[in-house]
Amino acid sequence: MKTITLGQSDLRVGRIGYGCWRMAQSTPKQAQAKIETALSCGMTLIDTADIYGFSEPSKFTKEPDGFGEAEAVLGQVLKSAPQLRDQMILVTKGGIIPPRPYNSTYDYLTGALERSLVRLNTDCVDLFLIHRPDLSTSFAQAGRALDALIDSGKTRYVGISNFTASQAHALQMNMESGLIVHQNEFSALCQDPMTNGILDQCQERDMTLMAWSPLAGGALATGRIYGRFNEAMFKRVMSTLMRLAEAYDTTPVNIALAFTLRHPAGVMPIIGTQKIDRIKDSANADNINLTARDFYDLIEARRGEAMP
Ligand SMILES: NC(=O)c1ccc[n+]([C@@H]2O[C@H](COP(=O)([O-])OP(=O)(O)OC[C@H]3O[C@@H](n4cnc5c(N)ncnc54)[C@H](OP(=O)(O)O)[C@@H]3O)[C@@H](O)[C@H]2O)c1
Repeated sequence: MKTITLGQSDLRVGRIGYGCWRMAQSTPKQAQAKIETALSCGMTLIDTADIYGFSEPSKFTKEPDGFGEAEAVLGQVLKSAPQLRDQMILVTKGGIIPPRPYNSTYDYLTGALERSLVRLNTDCVDLFLIHRPDLSTSFAQAGRALDALIDSGKTRYVGISNFTASQAHALQMNMESGLIVHQNEFSALCQDPMTNGILDQCQERDMTLMAWSPLAGGALATGRIYGRFNEAMFKRVMSTLMRLAEAYDTTPVNIALAFTLRHPAGVMPIIGTQKIDRIKDSANADNINLTARDFYDLIEARRGEAMP
């Protein structure tokens, strides 16, 4: 798989990443097989968060609400196969006390990463993200916490998730270290980062966008829409994906992933399937080079009208 450098860092990773949001109910053995498959396909960035597993049954944490469970499952994998830690760029996130409040106070963020490291069975992650912007804490305090996490050696780099471009700017102005990534929803169905300033900022500041739910949480794979997307828009996008899949002799899934990879800023889709064969198949998106015309066809399908 082709590789990219994450923002202004020395983290070189496969350009498709693997996410662990849906992994909390896997056994460590099943989780290990998924992680090993992702790594062997070149998906060397493994993304998780302390909240993944929340509201599901927990086996490995002492938490009654499932908080931390996905990290704990990955921690079991790293305990029994510690060599995998050196083969991955490990990303986690913190800053949500589920479901609310979001908490980016100094004490909470620094404590959250320490607790994540215990669950993950590792001394340090490669990248720590604030999961959601905390509207009740100043950027000065959140920035101080991120700087302290780097200074303490508990993470090598920091970034943000679900921030607007202006929130990212305000936070960056209050930090010594640099934010190397945004992580936001981006897919053929959710194209907001192309119009809300996130991808402009990525190019302006040499940050990487990690695209969460690049298959719109599975809708673009199953063709079954769920709640929050407009049905007519979904049908237009789906039929364009199917037309391109036929033209490129591939699947709508891989065209959807290739759409995110086509953006000139250099976007990294984070896939979330829990099926080994689907992890392997997704790696084929790396070989699809959509033309600018195809890219615009998907933008226009989403818009429902031609570009001006
Ligand atoms: N920062 C944030 O706020 C945030 C939010 C959400 C997610 N994330 C990150 O992004 C990662 C990916 O999110 P996601 O899981 O929503 O991504 P996704 O890849 O858009 O969706 C994954 C879902 O699609 C299904 N799927 C995939 N391929 C399929 C196929 N060929 N046929 C049928 N179904 C298919 C999967 O089911 P199967 O497992 O059955 O294949 C799974 O339920 C997460 O793991 C997490 O790391 C971050």
